[in-house]
Amino acid sequence: MKVAVACDHGAYEYKEKVIEILKSLEHEVEDFGCYDKQSVDYPDMVYPAAKSVADGKNDCGIVLCGTGIGASITANKVKGIRCSLVSDLFTAKVTREHNDSNVLALGQRVLGESIMEEIVRTWLATPFSEDQRHKNRIEKIKSIEEKEE
Ligand code: RB5
Repeated sequence: MKVAVACDHGAYEYKEKVIEILKSLEHEVEDFGCYDKQSVDYPDMVYPAAKSVADGKNDCGIVLCGTGIGASITANKVKGIRCSLVSDLFTAKVTREHNDSNVLALGQRVLGESIMEEIVRTWLATPFSEDQRHKNRIEKIKSIEEKEE
């Protein structure tokens, strides 16, 4: 898969680790920054990463900040993005199966490194269930996006 990755200064180290994991799994990575620990504003990196997923240039995205909250709020402003802020393995799996989540948000200041790695692996490996009830709910989300334009 082609995966967009973005972070702010609060999650620079984990973004680099996420890139290592993605490359070890032979995914293609587009890195939207940031590229060091200098203070930056997360929307500046997260918005273009999320937009690249919505536009079909990347298949999915992983966005990170200190808590994951700012990154997830930003990504979810982009039409077509279903970004899930995840901090456990159950929701990493279920948000793919039920919500067909296309962007994963993670918080470096919230998660230990091992659980972060397992969340990334689980989220990437879990397919959408294709159940009609979940498709219906996602269609309703899309119709809300149309109304809000
Ligand atoms: C940066 O200090 C911090 O606010 C940011 O990484 C994130 O936690 C925001 O949601």
